[in-house]
Amino acid sequence: MSSKPPVIVRTVSALRAQVAAWRSVGERVALIPTMGALHAGHLSLVDLGRERAERAVASIFVNPTQFAPHEDFEAYPREEAKDVQRLADAKCDLLFAPSVEEMYAPGFSTTVSVAGVSAPLDGQARPHHFAGVATIVAKLLIQCGPDIAVFGQKDYQQLQVIRRLVRDLDLPVEIIGGPTVRAEDGLALSSRNAYLSAAERVVAGKLNLILATAVEQLRDGRAVEAVEAEGLAALTAAGFDSVDYLEVRDPDDLSRLGPGPLAGPGRILAAARIGRTRLIDNMAV
Ligand code: PAF
Repeated sequence: MSSKPPVIVRTVSALRAQVAAWRSVGERVALIPTMGALHAGHLSLVDLGRERAERAVASIFVNPTQFAPHEDFEAYPREEAKDVQRLADAKCDLLFAPSVEEMYAPGFSTTVSVAGVSAPLDGQARPHHFAGVATIVAKLLIQCGPDIAVFGQKDYQQLQVIRRLVRDLDLPVEIIGGPTVRAEDGLALSSRNAYLSAAERVVAGKLNLILATAVEQLRDGRAVEAVEAEGLAALTAAGFDSVDYLEVRDPDDLSRLGPGPLAGPGRILAAARIGRTRLIDNMAV
């Protein structure tokens, strides 16, 4: 039996009308913002939303402002028809799939930027990325007005940027971080994994193992700087073409930890490239 497809809306006014109708009968709304090419990781976020609210709204918008000119905005996979089927199977009620013109009206001039937590790691490797993310996520939260919004922990720095944004702007929404969903060899699911050749896919599967080894070493009391250096060398030896970072950071504000052994909780985060694909992953320590 085929599942009921989500209602598709493409304008902010239609989104607001549907959310208001649900609200008027006391139903809570969960928003799951995505850029589409949905995989089991995204669908687990829809499940989390449905556990906590009567209605689940997914958005699909490949947001141009979070890509630099040399990045993969044009190549980013777009497969709305398949995504609609996936959302139907996940029992998502509504898909908000606006055009670029709907989201960025002529003369658009406002940028939301979150200092501090946006600065290191991906903020250094992709300088305008988090301002693009914070701007579009602020817009989506204001447009939809959900009770909760669900984001993947796979993009851990993004999640922390969004938590800071919501706190700083007093946006009335609860942010939920959904656990990373992994393939059998541990590779974190990502829409960008579609870019990997068969040989690159084998290398990609080693990123999570290297992070897991680093987590063990930190738990054993090894010094942060030694674990980071060994992890970087392991990524190169595993066949990654370049490594943007492998660092142990504070789990809340992503400030540096160490030198020496960890005194409390940490988060280890890495970004590395194989061919034209950039992979990121992270784990709790
Ligand atoms: O994680 C993503 O897919 C995007 O960065 C998000 C949060 C949908 C904003 O465009």
